[in-house]
This record gives sequence, structure tokens and C-alpha cells, in this order.
Amino acid sequence: MEFKLLPGGTISGEARVPGDKSMSHRSIMLGALAEGTTRVSGFLEGDDALATLAAFRAMGVSIERHGEGEVVVHGVGLHGLAAPDGPLDLGNAGTGMRLMCGLMAGQPFDTVLTGDASLCSRPMGRVIDPLRLMGAKIDAQEGGRPPLKITGGSQLKGIHYDLPMASAQVKSCVLLAGLYAQGRTSVTEPAPTRDHTERMLRGFGYEVKREGEVISLQGGGSLKAADIDVPADISSAAFFLVAASITPGSDLLLTHVGINPTRIGVLNILNLMGADITLKNEREVGGEPVADIQVRYAPLHGVDIPEDQVPLAIDEFPALFIAAACAQGRTVLRGAEELRVKESDRIAAMAEGLNTLGVNNEVLEDGIIIEGGTIGGGEIRTHMDHRIAMAFSIAALRAEQEIVVLDCDHVATSFPGFDALARGLGLQIIVQAD
Ligand code: S3P
Repeated sequence: MEFKLLPGGTISGEARVPGDKSMSHRSIMLGALAEGTTRVSGFLEGDDALATLAAFRAMGVSIERHGEGEVVVHGVGLHGLAAPDGPLDLGNAGTGMRLMCGLMAGQPFDTVLTGDASLCSRPMGRVIDPLRLMGAKIDAQEGGRPPLKITGGSQLKGIHYDLPMASAQVKSCVLLAGLYAQGRTSVTEPAPTRDHTERMLRGFGYEVKREGEVISLQGGGSLKAADIDVPADISSAAFFLVAASITPGSDLLLTHVGINPTRIGVLNILNLMGADITLKNEREVGGEPVADIQVRYAPLHGVDIPEDQVPLAIDEFPALFIAAACAQGRTVLRGAEELRVKESDRIAAMAEGLNTLGVNNEVLEDGIIIEGGTIGGGEIRTHMDHRIAMAFSIAALRAEQEIVVLDCDHVATSFPGFDALARGLGLQIIVQAD
């Protein structure tokens, strides 16, 4: 499937984008391991979260889907999973695989975790290293790549782990393994990252301490089922925050968006660039802050992105690079080497697409410099990365010629229905077979 985008248009109206991917994965994992029944609403019915759901079904957990994001998980308790018949296929999902590694390391049975070509090219050493220190037995392919074989039956022991990179996936993996470990497990992060695991564990009645930079929990407790209302994903909202910001005449309301402080780097960076963004109806839903976000067109200017915002906007850089391409002046991003190990090398993939569209940029080892200017047209390769596909789709709003985004199947991993929603808001997007 590919997207053909006609140049121009304005973005207006009201929309609720699909549920948060990070929270959807975690709602299935913790719901499955809790005692009792967890009702999830707003669940992201995207391929990534559905792969996690299928993995827990394969381990004997009964999970009902009632459509429109309503999911009921009949928890089996921390020690109630059954050995799966074959490998667990986590599709395209780094979050699914890295968090599951932590959980599977604590099981009495063996598991094999695998995924698609993109996932099988991503580094897992970052989770294997701390898990081995905890006593887990894990075999990987060359370079620490999946498929991973996790040998069950190891009694894990609590460790303290200084995270070598700001990664919520690694933090969550270690803490989830800590549920099965003897003693206390603690981590220190080099910079704050999304804290949905900690919040959701607490929501399930599990004590998670935060003392300064150190986050810790004691193994051997239990999780009590709790209902979860998953807000709209700010990472999906980001494409429309940028779309409306760069397009004269735009005025858009995005409803029920999660605005957890560890996720709002995109709002902070767009505000620095001069965007017109207003938070309305701020409230707390199930332990997570939520708001409706109004965004109107405003002329943007280039900025030096503060490095402390990088982990808080880590998934939003493809969209932000398009904002930078439409801004007046130069935008500089540094300290973002983690972008090189996402669903694609997002610095290289975005630079390639920006070059196709005639946007001047200079690639750095740990970031990029983008000169705002005019946007041409052409054919864009997505490198099997959903966010590269959506970023270049919204670029069409300011393009001078047609843009064709090739290989868009992966959009469904995080944003099923992106094309229809985008069309409804004013993007001139045509889906065609490739
Ligand atoms: C996620 C953490 C981030 C993010 C990913 C989701 C999570 O990855 O990029 O999309 O749900 O914990 P890293 O931990 O690799 O930064």
C-alpha cells in the first residue's frame, strides 16, 4: 500500500486519534498478570498492541475484544501463564519485545520471541545485559538481535542497574523482571523517560518507589486488576499538531490526548518554534493526565532543540523534522543518537526523504541540522517505519508537487485508520496498491 498526496489543503475540525501505544501494550501485560478482571477502554487496535495481545492469549490468558478499543483481560496472576506452543511473534514492536523479555525471564518455561524483519534487525543487548545480571538465560542472534530464546526456570535476583541510555523500554524490562526477582530491583535513568510502567504498576496496587533518580520495587508481590482508560496517543496526535501548525488557515481540536509530563516534548518544542497550541479541559484519567489540544496555524521559526527534551519527544522527531523543514531558519537537533535504533534509522531515513523533497539538511552522528525552505515533491521510502510514512504524508500540506509515500503498510502498527482520519481533517491523501 502506498499513499499519494496532493499538495496543499488546510487542517480543521475535531478528532480523537487512536489510543496510546505504550499504555496499550502495558494494559495487556499487567492485566494478564493481575489477579482479577481488567477492563481496558481506548485500547489501540493497531498491529503492535494486537501482537502483544495475541502473545498473552498464546500463554493461556483469556482476552475478550469488544470492538472500538474495549478489551477485557481475565488475569491469571503473576505465576499463572502457560507455556506457549511456539515462538511468540511480536510483529514490529520493540516495546512488546523488550518488555516481554523481562517478563519471560521470570517464567518457569522456555520462550522464543521473534518479530518482523525490522524488529529482528534491532538491538536487544540493551535488555539482555541487565537480565543476565539478574540471572536470566537468554540466547540471541548475532549482534544481540532477535529471535531470542529465553530459558525458563531461573530464579532471578534483584539488582541495581544504571541505565546506559535514556530508555523507557529498558527501564520497564528491568522493573518487570524485578516482579519475579528475589529482593529489590532498582534502576537509575540518565534522563527522565516515559513512566507509564511505574504509574500502571501503582494503579495495580504494586508499590514502586522513586527516590531522586532511583526507581525501585520489591519482588514477590502481586498485581490487583484495575480498569484502564487509555488516552489518545500524543505520538499519533503529533502528526496533526505539526500539520495544523504548518498550514495557513488551520484550526484543529484533538481530544482526550495523554499529556503525561514525560511525553510532552513535542508540545514544548513546537511552542519554542512559535506554534499556537492551547491545552483545554485538563483532567486526570486513571492516573494519567489528559487534555484536549487546540492547534492553529502559526509561522514557525527554527530552534536549537534543548537536549533535555529529546527523551520526552523521542517518537515525535519525524513529525518535528517536517515542522523544521517548514520553519524559517535553521533547526538543530543533537543528543538524539537513539533515533538511529528505532523502527528505522530515523535520522538517515528522514534525511533521505528531506533530500528528495529538496530540503537542505546536514546529518550529524547524533542528530541533524535542517534549513527551513520550500518543499518539493517526489517518491519517499519509509524503510518499514510507520512514523516516517506519516511524517512525509503531512509534508504534502506545504509541498509544491505531489508526494508519493511508498510502502505504508506499517502505518497500521500505531495508527490504524490514519488515512481516513487525515482525509477527514483536510489532507488530500489517496491510498493505492503498490
Ligand atoms: C517506548 C519507549 C521508547 C519509544 C517507544 C515506546 C515504551 O523506546 O521510542 O516507541 O513504550 O516504553 P526506548 O525505550 O527505546 O526509547
